Amino acid sequence: MPESVVTNEDFAAYLDTSDEWITQRTGIKTRHKASSDESTVTLAAEAARRAMADAGIGPDEVGLLLVATATPEHPIPSTACVLHERLGLTGVPAFDLSAACSGLMYGMVVAASMIQTGMYDNVLVVGAEVLTRVANMEDRTTCVLFGDGAGAVVLSRSDDPERGFVYMNLGAEGTLWQTLWVPAGGSKEPASVRTVNERLHSIRMRGRELYKVAVCKMEVLIREALEATGLSPDDLAMVLPHQSNLRIIESFRNRLGLAKEKVAVNICEYGNTSAASIGLALDSARRSGKLKEGDLVLMVAFGAGVTWGTVIARL
Ligand code: ACO
Repeated sequence: MPESVVTNEDFAAYLDTSDEWITQRTGIKTRHKASSDESTVTLAAEAARRAMADAGIGPDEVGLLLVATATPEHPIPSTACVLHERLGLTGVPAFDLSAACSGLMYGMVVAASMIQTGMYDNVLVVGAEVLTRVANMEDRTTCVLFGDGAGAVVLSRSDDPERGFVYMNLGAEGTLWQTLWVPAGGSKEPASVRTVNERLHSIRMRGRELYKVAVCKMEVLIREALEATGLSPDDLAMVLPHQSNLRIIESFRNRLGLAKEKVAVNICEYGNTSAASIGLALDSARRSGKLKEGDLVLMVAFGAGVTWGTVIARL
């Protein structure tokens, strides 16, 4: 996480909003914001180095690098290639995945599938975002929601048949792509004086519509995963959901009868960190001892695109 913290009061000081509104509607109290010398790659590099150290592998053992981000370092080349240099990787393939908040799920499924084909032994997957750079800081309906950060995982081949992914599911519904988008800066609408003046480089979101889809979909995704695997909520050590709104998390938690302590929440402190949110939750769950080797963990995300993804893994 970047060090700098933005509180709800910081927004209330210049926008028509309040700590009460933001807390009640979203659960968010603070979010972290990248400083001018930080970027998606600096955050990604720190998360990647910690993940590699934790996994006990060096740069020469990474077979493939994937970066999930909606806020790439540059339009060209991929953020993964810039990170590749930072990490001192040589020759190994690297590419970006664009699936917004579902990015880490997309990345982990691609990584696991590549390992299953026998192509790679260790895949480094990083979810990193600097969303505060694409949020319009004058738009109270979006700027209060997003935070910056990065999370990383190393997926490795295991000879233990008990360990690994027991369920993977990805999906998308393109008809909803305009529920959350940045209109300009791509090939359709390149940057111009007009696009800058009209603030077309920042996030547009139809929040209420997205909320309705997200709140149903998160519950359905978890139900489908449990049904397909024959697992019950009691079998899961933890559920790590993407963090877009505390009300969404509480809704599926109540409807599925999940114990509060089993469902990770970091939105209050970090806001919506998109592709970073589940990696951050996984890291704190492991460091606090809530997740350990042999545990079953369910990770689930829904995000812009719209996209979704669910993974159940035995650690
Ligand atoms: N402070 C005060 N008032 C506000 C604020 C604010 N920060 N933001 C909006 N309001 C106002 C609105 O202008 C509106 O006022 P009006 O009734 O006078 O028009 C009123 O509050 C209600 O607005 P809603 O949009 O209906 O508020 P809602 O309760 O739906 O909460 C929110 C908005 C938090 C954005 C919610 O819709 C949400 O969480 N949506 C889902 C977001 C999501 O799932 N994102 C996932 C993808 S993110 C990704 O992929 C990067």
